[in-house]
Amino acid sequence: MPIRFVLSPATRLPSAVAAMPRAAVRARLAARLAAPAALLRPTAFKPAAPAQLAVATAAVVTVAAAPEQQHATRAAEAAASEQPPAAGAAAGAEAADAADGPRTASIYTRRQLAIEDPQAFADVRSDTVTRPSPDMLQAMIAAPVGDDVFGEDPTINELERTVARLAGKEAALFCASGTMSNQVAIRSHLTQPPYSVLCDARAHVLNHEAGGIAFHCGAAVVAVPPREHTGHLTAALVKRHLITSTDIHTTPTRLVCLENTLNGSVMPIDDIRAISEFVRGKGIPIHLDGARLWNASAATGISIKDYCSHFDSVSLCFSKGGFNTPLCSQPGQCLGAPVGSVLVGSTEFIAKARHFRKLYGGAMRQAGILAAACLYALDHYFPTLSEVHANARYFGDALVALGFGLDRPVETNMVWLDTAPLGLVADDVAKVLLKARIRAFGGEDTVMRIVLHHQVSREDLERAVAELTVYVATLGPRRAA
Ligand SMILES: Cc1ncc(COP(=O)(O)O)c(C=O)c1O
Repeated sequence: MPIRFVLSPATRLPSAVAAMPRAAVRARLAARLAAPAALLRPTAFKPAAPAQLAVATAAVVTVAAAPEQQHATRAAEAAASEQPPAAGAAAGAEAADAADGPRTASIYTRRQLAIEDPQAFADVRSDTVTRPSPDMLQAMIAAPVGDDVFGEDPTINELERTVARLAGKEAALFCASGTMSNQVAIRSHLTQPPYSVLCDARAHVLNHEAGGIAFHCGAAVVAVPPREHTGHLTAALVKRHLITSTDIHTTPTRLVCLENTLNGSVMPIDDIRAISEFVRGKGIPIHLDGARLWNASAATGISIKDYCSHFDSVSLCFSKGGFNTPLCSQPGQCLGAPVGSVLVGSTEFIAKARHFRKLYGGAMRQAGILAAACLYALDHYFPTLSEVHANARYFGDALVALGFGLDRPVETNMVWLDTAPLGLVADDVAKVLLKARIRAFGGEDTVMRIVLHHQVSREDLERAVAELTVYVATLGPRRAA
């Protein structure tokens, strides 16, 4: 078992230690920690001992960790040092090991990345990481609540009415998550097997919902590859893959699912319309995973209602980066809610979905405190999503100017960075971003997803660009031809 000591900035560093070169401090720390077992016990780890307090900013020391964890720790230290990783590697054997050591899957996963104060870091791993503001928390505290299983929570009722109106649908259902909202919808649409669901091969409902379609519905899935790498499903593709045959060997398509935005890319409304007309013409319902329909709406100016008119059911998430709807009359700081998605559809469909939500254990009681956060986001902190999108364009352009590529164009809040032109992988960039106090997912891939939201400012991005500029200048021969 690794023993992890976390040193915060508040940890007292004797001035003699603070003045020592980092490599020397690390060496003394390692020597001490290899000594008596008693010293390794956290209780025996007294702040007064100089050698224990070596890594003031890297802040994490892992003792007797598995090799890959040691690698992660060293890399995190290197990333937090004042030197670029290459120079850090030259400074000491430990850092050299990190540079030469085997690359692990990702050293910046949630499990492995250790930072002393998450709130002091901008976080571009996802737009789900936003935190509620004090005002939003206040609104949650003040929310009138009741038992929603009895239909008696006034705040949830208000949210459901509001979102149904916004989407132009008869009814709505508050769900705990986007996954629940999608899966309840899919289950509610499917009736008599054998059946199959047609969706984009990259769809969240297929790839990131724990096999929910198979588990909850026992349905086959026809996963259709999009038109091209950055493309979307088209009516022609859907026609080609839709199963209408009555042959007993087949599993007829009983539901089509689309996603908008998908990987940050907006699905063209003409394709949506054509697919919807074709599918509905066959008497097959069509569901939208609209977790980020807000972003599509902000990017195109097409209203949520217009988008929703092409679907029988839509799942809208409130826990992502923010919102941009006509309900907001007070532009301001854009905030995501901590929890919640709303499923919209016909009265009959939502009544059925409500039943399945109960079956899945998702009928909550005084959950109006959560719905209040969603309402608050709609009414007061209207997301300045177009600003977020502008930040994403700024960052994409700046990275291209540094010699990086873009795996696909920046359309909304996601930047898909291609590190290959500089001979780098995502981990290399993640380490540099960490120095700029920005948390990102790394890994061995040369494509890196960077997701912006309202809690990543232009200043954060400028800091990142400055660090990356310094880093890229040190690459020299590593740079790909
Ligand atoms: C497109 C899409 N759909 C659905 C979900 C599921 O949302 P949740 O994490 O609330 O279950 C996500 C989550 O990020 C998503 O990106």
